[in-house]
Amino acid sequence: GEQKRNIRKALKTNWIGFGGPFTKALEARFAELCNRSFAVFVSSGSAALHLVLSAMDVGAGDEVICPDFSIISLPHAIALCGAKPVFVDVDYNGNIRPDLIEEKLTPRTKAIIAVHAFGIPAEMDDITRLADRHGLRVIEDCSQAHGARYRGRVVGSLGDAACFSLYINKLIMAGEGGMIVADDEELAERTSRARNMYYGTDERFYHERFGWNYRATDLQAAIALPLCERLPEIIQRRREIASAIRKGLEGIEWIEFLKPPEHVSPVDWVFCVRLKKGSPIDRKELMKRLAAHGVDSRPLFVPFHMQPMYRTDGEFRGAVEIYESGLYVSCHHELKRHQIERIVEAFNRAFENV
Ligand SMILES: Cc1ncc(COP(=O)(O)O)c(C=O)c1O
Repeated sequence: GEQKRNIRKALKTNWIGFGGPFTKALEARFAELCNRSFAVFVSSGSAALHLVLSAMDVGAGDEVICPDFSIISLPHAIALCGAKPVFVDVDYNGNIRPDLIEEKLTPRTKAIIAVHAFGIPAEMDDITRLADRHGLRVIEDCSQAHGARYRGRVVGSLGDAACFSLYINKLIMAGEGGMIVADDEELAERTSRARNMYYGTDERFYHERFGWNYRATDLQAAIALPLCERLPEIIQRRREIASAIRKGLEGIEWIEFLKPPEHVSPVDWVFCVRLKKGSPIDRKELMKRLAAHGVDSRPLFVPFHMQPMYRTDGEFRGAVEIYESGLYVSCHHELKRHQIERIVEAFNRAFENV
Protein backbone atom coordinates (compact mmCIF):
# COMPACT_ATOMS: atom_id res chain seq x y z
CA GLY A 1 0.00 0.00 0.00
CA GLU A 2 2.45 2.62 1.18
CA GLN A 3 5.02 1.55 -1.42
CA LYS A 4 2.49 2.12 -4.21
CA ARG A 5 1.49 5.50 -2.74
CA ASN A 6 5.15 6.51 -2.54
CA ILE A 7 5.85 5.50 -6.13
CA ARG A 8 2.80 7.44 -7.36
CA LYS A 9 4.02 10.45 -5.39
CA ALA A 10 7.52 10.18 -6.85
CA LEU A 11 6.08 9.91 -10.37
CA LYS A 12 3.76 12.88 -9.77
CA THR A 13 6.59 15.11 -8.56
CA ASN A 14 8.76 13.81 -11.41
CA TRP A 15 11.48 12.99 -8.91
CA ILE A 16 12.40 9.55 -10.13
CA GLY A 17 16.16 10.00 -10.41
CA PHE A 18 18.93 10.35 -7.89
CA GLY A 19 18.98 12.31 -4.63
CA GLY A 20 15.33 13.28 -4.17
CA PRO A 21 13.13 13.49 -1.06
CA PHE A 22 12.59 9.72 -0.68
CA THR A 23 16.36 9.14 -0.78
CA LYS A 24 16.88 11.75 1.90
CA ALA A 25 14.10 10.31 4.07
CA LEU A 26 15.43 6.75 3.64
CA GLU A 27 18.96 7.79 4.55
CA ALA A 28 17.76 9.60 7.66
CA ARG A 29 15.64 6.63 8.76
CA PHE A 30 18.40 4.10 8.06
CA ALA A 31 20.98 6.09 10.02
CA GLU A 32 18.54 6.18 12.91
CA LEU A 33 17.91 2.41 12.74
CA CYS A 34 21.68 1.84 13.02
CA ASN A 35 22.36 4.51 15.67
CA ARG A 36 24.60 6.29 13.20
CA SER A 37 25.03 9.93 12.21
CA PHE A 38 25.15 9.35 8.45
CA ALA A 39 23.70 7.03 5.81
CA VAL A 40 24.43 7.02 2.07
CA PHE A 41 22.05 5.23 -0.32
CA VAL A 42 23.82 3.59 -3.26
CA SER A 43 23.07 1.22 -6.11
CA SER A 44 24.01 -2.08 -4.42
CA GLY A 45 25.67 -3.75 -1.46
CA SER A 46 28.63 -4.52 -3.71
CA ALA A 47 28.97 -0.81 -4.55
CA ALA A 48 28.73 0.07 -0.84
CA LEU A 49 31.72 -2.17 -0.07
CA HIS A 50 33.81 -0.70 -2.88
CA LEU A 51 32.93 2.87 -1.87
CA VAL A 52 33.80 2.37 1.81
CA LEU A 53 37.14 0.70 1.08
CA SER A 54 37.99 3.43 -1.40
CA ALA A 55 37.01 6.17 1.07
CA MET A 56 39.31 4.52 3.61
CA ASP A 57 42.14 4.89 1.08
CA VAL A 58 42.59 1.14 0.65
CA GLY A 59 44.82 0.82 -2.42
CA ALA A 60 47.64 -0.98 -4.18
CA GLY A 61 49.88 -2.92 -1.81
CA ASP A 62 47.27 -3.01 0.97
CA GLU A 63 45.66 -6.13 2.37
CA VAL A 64 42.13 -6.50 3.69
CA ILE A 65 40.95 -9.38 5.88
CA CYS A 66 37.59 -11.00 5.14
CA PRO A 67 35.89 -14.33 5.84
CA ASP A 68 36.63 -17.13 3.35
CA PHE A 69 32.94 -17.87 2.97
CA SER A 70 30.47 -15.26 1.75
CA ILE A 71 29.27 -13.40 -1.33
CA ILE A 72 31.91 -12.84 -4.04
CA SER A 73 31.37 -9.05 -3.77
CA LEU A 74 33.76 -8.98 -0.80
CA PRO A 75 37.02 -10.01 -2.47
CA HIS A 76 35.91 -8.22 -5.65
CA ALA A 77 35.50 -4.91 -3.80
CA ILE A 78 38.96 -5.32 -2.27
CA ALA A 79 40.49 -6.26 -5.63
CA LEU A 80 38.77 -3.30 -7.32
CA CYS A 81 40.75 -1.04 -4.97
CA GLY A 82 43.95 -2.71 -6.13
CA ALA A 83 44.38 -4.40 -2.74
CA LYS A 84 44.72 -8.06 -1.81
CA PRO A 85 41.93 -9.97 -0.07
CA VAL A 86 43.20 -12.18 2.74
CA PHE A 87 40.84 -14.95 3.78
CA VAL A 88 40.18 -16.18 7.30
CA ASP A 89 38.31 -19.39 8.06
CA VAL A 90 34.76 -19.33 9.43
CA ASP A 91 32.93 -20.95 12.34
CA TYR A 92 30.00 -23.37 12.25
CA ASN A 93 27.61 -20.51 11.39
CA GLY A 94 29.75 -19.11 8.59
CA ASN A 95 31.12 -16.19 10.61
CA ILE A 96 34.77 -15.11 10.55
CA ARG A 97 36.84 -16.68 13.37
CA PRO A 98 38.50 -13.87 15.37
CA ASP A 99 41.03 -16.32 16.83
CA LEU A 100 42.46 -16.91 13.34
CA ILE A 101 42.76 -13.27 12.26
CA GLU A 102 45.99 -12.32 14.01
CA GLU A 103 48.12 -14.89 12.18
CA LYS A 104 46.96 -13.39 8.85
CA LEU A 105 48.01 -9.82 9.66
CA THR A 106 51.02 -8.23 7.95
CA PRO A 107 52.35 -4.65 8.01
CA ARG A 108 50.22 -4.10 4.89
CA THR A 109 46.90 -5.07 6.51
CA LYS A 110 44.56 -2.08 6.51
CA ALA A 111 41.09 -3.27 7.39
CA ILE A 112 38.87 -6.17 8.43
CA ILE A 113 35.49 -6.84 6.87
CA ALA A 114 33.20 -8.74 9.23
CA VAL A 115 30.08 -10.20 7.64
CA HIS A 116 27.13 -11.05 9.89
CA ALA A 117 26.50 -14.34 8.13
CA PHE A 118 22.97 -15.67 7.61
CA GLY A 119 21.53 -13.17 10.10
CA ILE A 120 23.88 -14.12 12.95
CA PRO A 121 26.14 -11.30 14.18
CA ALA A 122 29.88 -11.94 14.03
CA GLU A 123 31.95 -11.85 17.23
CA MET A 124 32.39 -8.07 17.10
CA ASP A 125 33.98 -7.41 20.52
CA ASP A 126 36.90 -9.70 19.71
CA ILE A 127 37.22 -8.25 16.21
CA THR A 128 37.18 -4.57 17.23
CA ARG A 129 39.55 -5.22 20.16
CA LEU A 130 42.04 -6.85 17.81
CA ALA A 131 41.59 -4.10 15.22
CA ASP A 132 42.22 -1.39 17.84
CA ARG A 133 45.37 -3.15 18.96
CA HIS A 134 46.71 -3.20 15.40
CA GLY A 135 45.34 0.12 14.15
CA LEU A 136 42.98 -1.47 11.60
CA ARG A 137 39.62 -0.23 10.34
CA VAL A 138 36.57 -2.46 10.79
CA ILE A 139 33.78 -2.65 8.23
CA GLU A 140 30.62 -4.55 9.06
CA ASP A 141 28.70 -6.16 6.22
CA CYS A 142 25.12 -6.31 7.48
CA SER A 143 23.52 -7.35 4.19
CA GLN A 144 22.15 -10.59 5.63
CA ALA A 145 21.34 -9.27 9.09
CA HIS A 146 19.25 -6.07 8.99
CA GLY A 147 18.13 -5.37 12.56
CA ALA A 148 20.11 -8.18 14.25
CA ARG A 149 21.71 -7.39 17.61
CA TYR A 150 25.05 -8.19 19.19
CA ARG A 151 25.07 -7.97 23.00
CA GLY A 152 22.03 -5.71 22.71
CA ARG A 153 23.60 -3.38 20.15
CA VAL A 154 22.21 -3.19 16.64
CA VAL A 155 24.45 -4.31 13.76
CA GLY A 156 25.72 -1.43 11.69
CA SER A 157 26.71 0.44 14.86
CA LEU A 158 29.66 -1.77 15.83
CA GLY A 159 32.57 -0.91 13.52
CA ASP A 160 34.02 2.14 11.72
CA ALA A 161 31.44 1.85 8.95
CA ALA A 162 28.85 -0.65 7.79
CA CYS A 163 27.48 -1.76 4.43
CA PHE A 164 24.07 -3.17 3.60
CA SER A 165 22.57 -4.70 0.49
CA LEU A 166 18.97 -3.73 -0.22
CA TYR A 167 18.61 -6.34 -2.94
CA ILE A 168 15.17 -7.86 -3.31
CA ASN A 169 15.82 -10.84 -1.01
CA LYS A 170 16.92 -8.68 1.95
CA LEU A 171 14.81 -7.72 5.00
CA ILE A 172 14.73 -4.07 3.93
CA MET A 173 14.80 -4.13 0.14
CA ALA A 174 14.62 -1.61 -2.67
CA GLY A 175 14.55 -4.11 -5.57
CA GLU A 176 18.21 -3.18 -5.98
CA GLY A 177 20.17 -0.96 -3.65
CA GLY A 178 22.80 -0.61 -0.97
CA MET A 179 23.47 1.52 2.09
CA ILE A 180 26.55 2.78 3.91
CA VAL A 181 26.28 3.96 7.52
CA ALA A 182 28.97 5.66 9.62
CA ASP A 183 29.60 8.33 12.22
CA ASP A 184 32.67 9.69 10.43
CA GLU A 185 31.53 12.75 8.50
CA GLU A 186 34.47 12.68 6.11
CA LEU A 187 33.82 9.05 5.19
CA ALA A 188 30.14 9.84 4.63
CA GLU A 189 31.04 12.84 2.47
CA ARG A 190 33.58 10.87 0.44
CA THR A 191 31.27 7.91 -0.21
CA SER A 192 28.40 10.24 -0.98
CA ARG A 193 30.41 12.12 -3.60
CA ALA A 194 32.13 9.01 -4.99
CA ARG A 195 28.75 7.32 -5.67
CA ASN A 196 28.13 10.16 -8.12
CA MET A 197 31.45 10.40 -10.03
CA TYR A 198 33.01 12.67 -7.40
CA TYR A 199 31.91 15.74 -9.29
CA GLY A 200 33.78 18.89 -8.30
CA THR A 201 32.11 21.44 -6.04
CA ASP A 202 33.62 24.59 -7.61
CA GLU A 203 34.38 23.17 -11.01
CA ARG A 204 31.89 20.43 -11.80
CA PHE A 205 34.01 18.35 -14.17
CA TYR A 206 37.17 18.53 -12.10
CA HIS A 207 37.32 15.28 -10.10
CA GLU A 208 39.50 15.32 -6.96
CA ARG A 209 39.12 11.60 -6.28
CA PHE A 210 37.87 8.45 -7.96
CA GLY A 211 34.11 8.22 -8.31
CA TRP A 212 31.69 5.97 -10.13
CA ASN A 213 28.05 5.79 -11.08
CA TYR A 214 26.80 3.97 -8.00
CA ARG A 215 23.66 6.08 -7.77
CA ALA A 216 20.28 4.67 -6.72
CA THR A 217 17.00 6.29 -7.64
CA ASP A 218 14.23 7.89 -5.62
CA LEU A 219 11.87 5.19 -6.87
CA GLN A 220 14.05 2.59 -5.16
CA ALA A 221 14.10 4.67 -1.96
CA ALA A 222 10.30 4.96 -2.14
CA ILE A 223 10.05 1.16 -2.05
CA ALA A 224 12.51 0.70 0.84
CA LEU A 225 11.28 3.49 3.13
CA PRO A 226 8.06 1.84 4.41
CA LEU A 227 10.01 -1.37 5.14
CA CYS A 228 12.14 0.51 7.69
CA GLU A 229 9.00 1.09 9.74
CA ARG A 230 7.92 -2.51 9.29
CA LEU A 231 11.31 -4.04 10.21
CA PRO A 232 10.34 -5.24 13.73
CA GLU A 233 7.21 -6.89 12.34
CA ILE A 234 9.20 -8.44 9.45
CA ILE A 235 11.79 -9.83 11.88
CA GLN A 236 9.06 -11.25 14.13
CA ARG A 237 7.13 -12.91 11.28
CA ARG A 238 10.30 -14.48 9.86
CA ARG A 239 11.20 -15.73 13.34
CA GLU A 240 7.81 -17.45 13.60
CA ILE A 241 8.15 -19.00 10.15
CA ALA A 242 11.72 -20.20 10.80
CA SER A 243 10.60 -21.64 14.10
CA ALA A 244 7.72 -23.53 12.42
CA ILE A 245 10.07 -24.96 9.80
CA ARG A 246 12.64 -25.94 12.45
CA LYS A 247 9.98 -27.71 14.47
CA GLY A 248 8.81 -29.61 11.40
CA LEU A 249 12.35 -30.77 10.64
CA GLU A 250 13.32 -31.77 14.16
CA GLY A 251 12.53 -35.43 13.58
CA ILE A 252 15.03 -35.73 10.73
CA GLU A 253 18.12 -37.19 12.33
CA TRP A 254 20.52 -36.09 9.56
CA ILE A 255 19.72 -32.39 9.69
CA GLU A 256 21.05 -29.74 12.02
CA PHE A 257 20.55 -25.98 12.22
CA LEU A 258 22.82 -23.00 12.68
CA LYS A 259 23.67 -22.31 16.33
CA PRO A 260 23.59 -18.60 17.21
CA PRO A 261 25.43 -17.89 20.47
CA GLU A 262 23.41 -16.80 23.52
CA HIS A 263 24.57 -13.19 23.43
CA VAL A 264 23.20 -12.36 19.96
CA SER A 265 19.73 -11.70 18.68
CA PRO A 266 19.84 -13.00 15.11
CA VAL A 267 17.38 -12.40 12.28
CA ASP A 268 16.07 -15.03 9.89
CA TRP A 269 17.33 -13.87 6.53
CA VAL A 270 17.03 -17.36 5.01
CA PHE A 271 16.49 -20.77 6.60
CA CYS A 272 19.81 -22.64 6.65
CA VAL A 273 20.26 -26.31 7.34
CA ARG A 274 23.41 -28.39 7.53
CA LEU A 275 23.65 -32.10 6.83
CA LYS A 276 25.34 -34.11 9.53
CA LYS A 277 28.41 -36.18 8.74
CA GLY A 278 27.38 -39.61 7.46
CA SER A 279 24.06 -38.39 6.01
CA PRO A 280 22.77 -41.00 3.53
CA ILE A 281 22.11 -38.22 0.99
CA ASP A 282 24.45 -35.32 0.21
CA ARG A 283 23.55 -31.66 -0.33
CA LYS A 284 23.08 -31.99 -4.09
CA GLU A 285 20.80 -35.01 -3.75
CA LEU A 286 18.79 -33.25 -1.04
CA MET A 287 18.34 -30.18 -3.27
CA LYS A 288 17.18 -32.44 -6.11
CA ARG A 289 14.68 -34.17 -3.86
CA LEU A 290 13.37 -30.87 -2.46
CA ALA A 291 12.91 -29.58 -6.01
CA ALA A 292 11.00 -32.75 -6.91
CA HIS A 293 8.60 -31.85 -4.10
CA GLY A 294 8.23 -28.28 -5.37
CA VAL A 295 10.64 -26.56 -2.98
CA ASP A 296 13.39 -24.29 -4.23
CA SER A 297 16.65 -24.43 -2.27
CA ARG A 298 20.10 -22.91 -2.75
CA PRO A 299 23.57 -23.89 -1.71
CA LEU A 300 25.19 -21.43 0.71
CA PHE A 301 28.41 -20.10 -0.89
CA VAL A 302 31.60 -21.49 -2.44
CA PRO A 303 34.68 -20.62 -0.32
CA PHE A 304 36.76 -17.81 -1.82
CA HIS A 305 39.97 -19.83 -1.64
CA MET A 306 38.38 -22.26 -4.13
CA GLN A 307 37.35 -19.57 -6.64
CA PRO A 308 39.38 -19.37 -9.88
CA MET A 309 40.51 -15.76 -9.35
CA TYR A 310 41.36 -16.12 -5.64
CA ARG A 311 42.70 -19.66 -5.41
CA THR A 312 44.78 -19.99 -2.24
CA ASP A 313 46.32 -22.88 -0.34
CA GLY A 314 45.72 -23.09 3.34
CA GLU A 315 43.53 -24.55 6.00
CA PHE A 316 39.88 -23.48 5.64
CA ARG A 317 38.12 -26.45 7.18
CA GLY A 318 35.16 -24.47 8.55
CA ALA A 319 34.43 -22.93 5.14
CA VAL A 320 34.75 -26.25 3.31
CA GLU A 321 32.46 -28.01 5.79
CA ILE A 322 29.68 -25.44 5.63
CA TYR A 323 30.04 -25.34 1.83
CA GLU A 324 29.69 -29.10 1.54
CA SER A 325 26.93 -29.58 4.08
CA GLY A 326 24.81 -26.42 3.91
CA LEU A 327 21.81 -25.22 1.98
CA TYR A 328 18.96 -22.81 2.51
CA VAL A 329 15.29 -22.44 1.78
CA SER A 330 13.13 -19.34 2.08
CA CYS A 331 11.63 -18.14 5.36
CA HIS A 332 10.24 -14.97 3.75
CA HIS A 333 7.77 -13.07 5.92
CA GLU A 334 5.04 -13.36 3.29
CA LEU A 335 5.15 -17.16 3.04
CA LYS A 336 1.69 -18.64 3.47
CA ARG A 337 0.88 -21.50 5.80
CA HIS A 338 0.57 -24.03 2.92
CA GLN A 339 4.01 -22.98 1.63
CA ILE A 340 5.57 -23.52 5.06
CA GLU A 341 3.88 -26.92 5.23
CA ARG A 342 5.19 -27.78 1.79
CA ILE A 343 8.77 -27.00 2.86
CA VAL A 344 8.43 -29.19 5.96
CA GLU A 345 6.86 -32.01 4.00
CA ALA A 346 9.47 -31.86 1.22
CA PHE A 347 12.33 -32.25 3.73
CA ASN A 348 10.61 -35.13 5.48
CA ARG A 349 9.81 -36.88 2.18
CA ALA A 350 13.41 -36.37 1.02
CA PHE A 351 14.62 -38.48 3.95
CA GLU A 352 11.97 -41.18 3.65
CA ASN A 353 13.39 -44.67 3.07
CA VAL A 354 17.03 -43.62 3.19
C1 LIG B 1 27.06 -10.26 2.81
C2 LIG B 1 26.73 -9.63 1.50
N1 LIG B 1 27.45 -8.57 1.09
C3 LIG B 1 27.20 -7.97 -0.09
C4 LIG B 1 26.21 -8.42 -0.93
C5 LIG B 1 26.06 -7.78 -2.25
O1 LIG B 1 24.91 -7.03 -2.34
P1 LIG B 1 24.29 -6.64 -3.76
O2 LIG B 1 23.74 -7.88 -4.35
O3 LIG B 1 23.24 -5.64 -3.40
O4 LIG B 1 25.39 -6.05 -4.57
C6 LIG B 1 25.42 -9.50 -0.54
C7 LIG B 1 24.36 -9.98 -1.44
O5 LIG B 1 23.68 -10.94 -1.21
C8 LIG B 1 25.70 -10.14 0.69
O6 LIG B 1 25.00 -11.22 1.09
